[in-house]
Amino acid sequence: MIRYTVQGGTKLEGSVSISGAKNAAVAILPATLLVSGPCRIENVPDISDVRLLLEILSDMGAEIRRLSRSTLIIDCSHARNATAPIELVRRIRASYYLIGAELGRFGHAHVAMPGGCNFGVRPIDQHIKGFEAMGAVVEQAGGYVCADVPEGGLRGGHVYLDIVSVGATMNILLAAVLCGGMTIIENCAKEPHIVDLANFLNAMGAQISGAGTDVIKVRGVKKLSGGSYTIIPDQIEAGTYMAAAAAVGGNVLIENVIPKHMDCITAKLREMGAKVTEYDDSIRVESKGRLRRANVKTMPYPGFPTDMQPQIAVCMALADGTSLVTEGIYDNRFRYTAELCRMGASIQVEGRTAVVDGVEKLHGCEVRACDLRAGAAMVIAAMAANGTTTIEDAHYIERGYEDIIGKLTELGAKIRRSEDLDPINEAAAG
Ligand code: EPU
Repeated sequence: MIRYTVQGGTKLEGSVSISGAKNAAVAILPATLLVSGPCRIENVPDISDVRLLLEILSDMGAEIRRLSRSTLIIDCSHARNATAPIELVRRIRASYYLIGAELGRFGHAHVAMPGGCNFGVRPIDQHIKGFEAMGAVVEQAGGYVCADVPEGGLRGGHVYLDIVSVGATMNILLAAVLCGGMTIIENCAKEPHIVDLANFLNAMGAQISGAGTDVIKVRGVKKLSGGSYTIIPDQIEAGTYMAAAAAVGGNVLIENVIPKHMDCITAKLREMGAKVTEYDDSIRVESKGRLRRANVKTMPYPGFPTDMQPQIAVCMALADGTSLVTEGIYDNRFRYTAELCRMGASIQVEGRTAVVDGVEKLHGCEVRACDLRAGAAMVIAAMAANGTTTIEDAHYIERGYEDIIGKLTELGAKIRRSEDLDPINEAAAG
């Protein structure tokens, strides 16, 4: 059990450097299975989801060398198609990328149904629809997905996604790069990490066009060869530090970001009264006094990201007036609001909308991280609150935030990490 203890009330001052994007890294690592030869990957975030995927790849026979904290060389030339241990696969959502990558590389995939943060039902029917459009035969039984390629291999297919899905778009890309012919994915997701996966695969020799628009075309190639690639900065990690500076107050320079990826967050924080200044690859957030109310609805990129919903809700919980937060992606992403209410927030959830009546102050108490981004929101709330907050189940936070304790301490926060020796909490996440 990992616990954070936060002494609130200190303004954040200084600079913080953003790590590589989690949701790009967790697709690019399985994608190395498709490459014959070593891939040098830079800006890999050192987070527990990445460590877990590296363990799975290593079990499959990948040769992995760490050149520095963020630079890896991964060579899957001699990887075997071993079924990854269910206890690892069920701990992360991104293990579903093994299905597309194994199908593309070996023509057969046998992968346990992925875990993931609990936001309600999270089906993978659109992933399967895409694999089937390429001729794969897919069955789900006993908690596993089993996918096979027919005689003659996968062939290009045409798939129109019923729902804009990040995971389905990336998984279909993975299966398509080495298959014969042209695959067309319509109504696909446009998040920066989709473009990053496509850029990685193209750097290794794939022929993908249209990533970042809602139609992606993949012309299958015979082989991908090794090469070098640098993962983009994490949009959500950057957004979390921006929201922290706005809610807690202070003056923070967030470095190593792509400001264009932050547009919707920048606009919302400006609307709420924070001063946000963009530079070439950094953003400064200054905030003093009370934020103003605003409404937000989460949507696929370039809309406001669902993965920033809990963090912006903390800004709203402390703002002057009543704000509405509407969740447009998941059925149930408001469990954390009960924890914020324990700290004195005034939030009522009605279906997919939370009505947030801003209060002047939150107070420290004992709360838990319900999932990764909810955990980040609790850290922000705790830094803004009067008194001491303890956040239980903080292991969720470490799935997606590299060295959050070190980075916040550099900014002046008073935050401490402790760990119980009894490893009872192995809950799923993603
Ligand atoms: N959906 C379906 N069928 C599918 C796929 C998705 O109904 O086959 C639904 C989902 O249930 C959800 C919506 O479509 O309601 C969007 O889901 P999507 O597939 O886009 O999400 P995901 O691939 O499961 C990734 C991120 C999440 C992030 C979402 C949305 C990874 C590993 N996870 O999940 O990240 O919330 O996209 O942007 O990339 C996080 O980082 O904290 C996190 C939860």
